[in-house]
Amino acid sequence: MNKVGGPRSTEEIQASTRVDLNRALNKLIEPMQKLCFQAAEKQMPACPDWTSVAIYPKILELFSHMSARVMVGPELCEAWPAIAMKYIKSVLAAQGTIRKKYCPVLYWTAYYLSPEVAQVNKARRQAAQLVRPVLEARQAAYASRGAEVEKHDDFIQWIMDSYRASGKTATPDDIVQNIFIVMFASMHGTSFIALQSRFSLVGTPDALIEIRKEIKRVSRNDLKDSPVHSSALRYDPYTFKDGLHVPAGIVLSFPNLRYNTDPTTGLVPEAGIFEGKRWLRRRAEFNTSKFQFASTAEDAFDWGGGPHACPGRFMADVTIKLILICLVTKYDMKLPEKEGERPSESRRFMDLTPDTSTPMMVRDVQG
Ligand code: HEM
Repeated sequence: MNKVGGPRSTEEIQASTRVDLNRALNKLIEPMQKLCFQAAEKQMPACPDWTSVAIYPKILELFSHMSARVMVGPELCEAWPAIAMKYIKSVLAAQGTIRKKYCPVLYWTAYYLSPEVAQVNKARRQAAQLVRPVLEARQAAYASRGAEVEKHDDFIQWIMDSYRASGKTATPDDIVQNIFIVMFASMHGTSFIALQSRFSLVGTPDALIEIRKEIKRVSRNDLKDSPVHSSALRYDPYTFKDGLHVPAGIVLSFPNLRYNTDPTTGLVPEAGIFEGKRWLRRRAEFNTSKFQFASTAEDAFDWGGGPHACPGRFMADVTIKLILICLVTKYDMKLPEKEGERPSESRRFMDLTPDTSTPMMVRDVQG
């Protein structure tokens, strides 16, 4: 991705996500929920009667509006989603073109020659321009008042502070490239799970009724869990006890989907069936903090493992629940023809991808 002006992971973004985001998350739930509902008001068509809606792009919109608050703060969160989407789309388009048109040794020339890469850099500059005044104002405030200065709950602040802690001054481009890392890491993964969960509820009306009741009853910190299936691990050189050597720079993937759905592991009995209370029951059996949506464990690799396990998993947990709360409390949904039948997922390599193209029939919630 970084060959086409895409972002590259940094120590600063890992630290900001692991420490600052998670510390601030509780405070951010309320503003995120407000933005999610506002985005639904704007992005969803009026649905007094059953209306066909391409639901995945709407979920992406809800996520990008909510996450904008976390990425760039209240001043910029309205303008950010359009620029961020433009950037992400242009990186993906440039990546595709380069793979198709250039041989790998000449990838670097695309940076100078490809019009698609020029689009990436244009969007990157626009994003940096948007962030610049806020960043510079905060840097100036810090220069005059030092540690007494007001701290903001967003990635502009956290990345700026993290750069300063390593003796560097963050530029607007540093800020947006770091933010784009977390956007790439989170946007589709989170939205896929929200879509999968909504599909599951179409086929299980009893669960939907129960969830609607629960949303009314419970506080924001006490909502139900659902399973995720994804893992990709990257290591420095490493030799396992049995002599298997993994050279530096190799990307290792753990076949998490296979592991989670293999009946012989006994990990998830009847993994193919939606069972909304599966993990709730497992928790009761073991009386542990295991089997939470964002748990990591020696037998749970959904979020990777060890020190590099996904530090954004708690935010993913919150955003998915907020999207579902919004969709479930505002709308009734069904599938166009074969009501109750969930669109099948595609399996590519080790990924399980929901069908993002199937529209759903949507109606404002009745009663
Ligand atoms: C459902 C959504 C998500 C999934 C499935 C997911 C999955 C993962 C996985 C499996 C890893 C580990 C990669 C490795 O071991 O090298 C990871 C790393 C990471 N994720 Fe997530 N993630 C999600 C959402 C998020 C969110 C919302 C954020 C931030 C707001 C985030 C930020 C990161 C970062 C910064 C890393 C790198 C951590 C490091 O190398 O120390 N992710 N993610």
